[in-house]
Amino acid sequence: MYRTHTCGELRLADVKKEVTLCGWIQKIRHLGGMIFIDLRDRYGITQLAFNHELKPELCEQVEKMGREWVIQATGIVIERYSKNPNIPTGEIEIDVQKVNVLNEAITPPFTIEDVSDGGDELRMKYRYLDLRRNPVKNNIIFRHKLGLEIRKYLNGQGFLEIETPFLVNSTPEGARDFLVPSRMNPGEFYALPQSPQTLKQLLMISGMDRYFQIVRCFRDEDLRADRQPEFTQIDCEMSFIEQEDILNLFEGLVKHIFKTFKNIDLEPIERITWADAMKYYGSDKPDARFGMRFVELNDLLQHKEFKVFNEAELVVGIKVDGCGNYSRKQLDGLVEFVKSPHVGAGGLVYILCNADGTFKSSVDKFYDQEDLKAVAVRCEANPGDLILIMSGKAMKTRTQLSALRLEMGNRLGLRKAGEYKVLWVVDFPLLEWDEETQRFYAMHHPFTAPKPEHEDMLESNPGAVNANAYDLVINGSEVGGGSIRIHDPELQKRMFKALNFTEEQAQSQFGFLIDAFRFGAPPHGGIAFGFDRLCAVLSDCDSIRDFIAFPKNNSGRDTMLPAPTPIAQAQLDELNIDIKIPQNAK
Ligand code: AMO
Repeated sequence: MYRTHTCGELRLADVKKEVTLCGWIQKIRHLGGMIFIDLRDRYGITQLAFNHELKPELCEQVEKMGREWVIQATGIVIERYSKNPNIPTGEIEIDVQKVNVLNEAITPPFTIEDVSDGGDELRMKYRYLDLRRNPVKNNIIFRHKLGLEIRKYLNGQGFLEIETPFLVNSTPEGARDFLVPSRMNPGEFYALPQSPQTLKQLLMISGMDRYFQIVRCFRDEDLRADRQPEFTQIDCEMSFIEQEDILNLFEGLVKHIFKTFKNIDLEPIERITWADAMKYYGSDKPDARFGMRFVELNDLLQHKEFKVFNEAELVVGIKVDGCGNYSRKQLDGLVEFVKSPHVGAGGLVYILCNADGTFKSSVDKFYDQEDLKAVAVRCEANPGDLILIMSGKAMKTRTQLSALRLEMGNRLGLRKAGEYKVLWVVDFPLLEWDEETQRFYAMHHPFTAPKPEHEDMLESNPGAVNANAYDLVINGSEVGGGSIRIHDPELQKRMFKALNFTEEQAQSQFGFLIDAFRFGAPPHGGIAFGFDRLCAVLSDCDSIRDFIAFPKNNSGRDTMLPAPTPIAQAQLDELNIDIKIPQNAK
């Protein structure tokens, strides 16, 4: 037996027991005639004590050891003279009788401490060492516990966990696919699933009734803090349900998670339509922890000589409480922010609501005090507040003002950690027009059902059709999304037509699903939550990487393995792949 206990479990009640512990050396300290080792494993740290005078040979052996060596120590649990109240084992130490070196270790490239001296890149390259650090390790443990609780909950609701294949077919809708060449079928490729969407629908046709899977999904898209090329979904599907049933059931799950992990009794989850989310927050995933709702100002500001506003499709502002005393420098900083490439606005108009009831604006040349007052009244601004206004094409301006709103929220500390605002965003448009390719795309995916009362407009006014689709948004992060599906083969065909598919294209790409619908498809719908995002949001963290044991960096690389890498010509030949390997391939 390697060990009798872990490094996290011994307490005063264990004094006088003989124990054997295994772990990594976190720290070696010399103090007078004693040597102390902090021995670490997943469960905690226990102090090992070695007495020079009583055990000179043992001390000699210990002096040769270094950080991160793996050792086995046997000794007697004793009460500590100077206790450490910061760790659960802080009242005891082990008076060591015998040490075995299980493995030596070279010096780690960064310190294995809660706050490490290692930069991001170095820690990614040695991710297995980073995982020894408490903050990273605890995130992975949290992920495990969350997954377990979700499984338990869904099992309790009658869901079956069913695995679906990873080698599937490529579908051109949605993000780019990761492709896998088939050796046995030269020139043909599998795709890794972007989600098990069609497969879970087929499971409903199989009569499985309630399915879930905590499943890896693959999308070849540009990466950000909340996006990884492979990520995990809590993927769910149900038969004989309506949108209302799904929202209620998963509201139950969300509440259960908040109660279990945060001890928070969530209020009933507020619902906001997509149209209102865009109108009032400029985003389909609003951070509703703070106000600053958008106020439309076209009618108040398009009657004077200010060309920028007069030519705009939308003039819209936000009121920022208590910032009416912003200096010129602070205001210039905001203008700079909106002009930065990631926001991309032409500029920003501000109105300072002075304490004496007068107004000072960046467009005083065009607007008199009465005009500015009318804006202040519309924005419900008080003396001492600041109004920020942007204008231009409606959608673009909303997105830009949304970025400014979040920036102001950050600057003013309104996006508070530990505070959670959960929303259902409902009534998404079914389709989205793309100027570049001059066609409609499915806003959610091509299997989403139009609202029954909008079905008639699918051909005559496709852009106006709303879907039975919904997103779960927590603190401005899209944590989940789903919809009621089409289960009528004729409606599915009309949907493909609206998406510009010829009948042949629809049949060749999705024939399996349309055919399956003919064998008795039940009405069904579902949702998928981003598991990594859920972990991050619940931990008040922006980056999902911190909750993935072995994540990729922003260029989609795993620098530890490393991957991707070029492969040998022989392997390419075997796969019948004829490519030129670029000279600069790493
Ligand atoms: P959707 O594409 O909205 O829906 O994905 C569901 C949820 O998965 C998370 N997510 C991601 N997380 C990390 N990295 C990514 N690259 C990434 N992409 C998405 C988000 C998102 O809300 N089949 C449908 C679901 C359904 O209709 O049932 C689907 O995949 O949190």
